[in-house]
Amino acid sequence: MDSEDSDRDRGAGVEVAGGERSGVEPTEEQRGAQRLAARFFTLSMLAGIGLFVVYFSGGQTQVEGILFAIALGALGIGIGLWAHHLLDAREAIEDRHELSSGPEARQAFEEALGEEVGPAIRRRGMLLGLLAGAGGALGLALLLPLISLGPAPGDTLKRTAWHSGRRVVDEEGRLLTLDSVPEDGFVTVYPEGAVGRADSQALLIRVPRGLLRLPPERMAAVPEGSYVCYSKLCTHAGCPIGLYRVEQQTNGRSLFCPCHQSQFDVLDSAKPFFGPAARPLPQLPLRIDNEGHLAAEGDFFEPVGPAFWDRSK
Ligand code: FES
Repeated sequence: MDSEDSDRDRGAGVEVAGGERSGVEPTEEQRGAQRLAARFFTLSMLAGIGLFVVYFSGGQTQVEGILFAIALGALGIGIGLWAHHLLDAREAIEDRHELSSGPEARQAFEEALGEEVGPAIRRRGMLLGLLAGAGGALGLALLLPLISLGPAPGDTLKRTAWHSGRRVVDEEGRLLTLDSVPEDGFVTVYPEGAVGRADSQALLIRVPRGLLRLPPERMAAVPEGSYVCYSKLCTHAGCPIGLYRVEQQTNGRSLFCPCHQSQFDVLDSAKPFFGPAARPLPQLPLRIDNEGHLAAEGDFFEPVGPAFWDRSK
């Protein structure tokens, strides 16, 4: 081979994975597709990196969404270009023949398997590197939701602002005494100093004496056998309960949740008897302090609200 031939071969030679060269020359269209795929992989990689930068510099949901869409879309387009223009799509038709392969057929298959197929790709290593970079940046971006989970809540979901000795106030912050609630009346209450705190809101109900059917240890937390207090958060989906009903015919007392119509039996530990709620409303233990004010004996007996994380108990 003379020197001119040698130069021409070097120019026409095609680099493939592993540094091998294939003699199949790509068309101009395939070269263009290769350049385009490389640009899309680069765009995907830059968008993935940009997503990290935006996230760690404070985050902006819309910008993160756009960058994620660009990273994913550009990666998909790049892979599509590669598959459509740079992979072999030859159709081959073979006559039906005996099902078992003879030694010659197996030999031919093994040779064909080792053959370079499809159009040769110039700088395939670069394209593969860009694809890996784009895929890696996108893969790392998928870890961001894990980072956003934040610290574990611990037992904060099981505690409210109530604790032993904390006095009971109404929505205006006024301290409550036994005279503050009329018979069969009810009032929304909070711990003193925490008015408005959602997880601590409760309903103080004055039930006529002798009607409550609570276990002895729960009854001991009901001043005068009349002033019972339950969490105001529905145990179904956490809506605030706001309706107290007196059934004249059955002498029953119930609380009604307006969201999905769950009903709770006030006289029987606020157990649900209608609707989707499955757990009773947690009771808040109360006592009368030395100054005659209503005060908590401790926190609610159970976690308030849906408490789905605490179902095992
Ligand atoms: S939130 Fe009360 S019934 Fe659904």
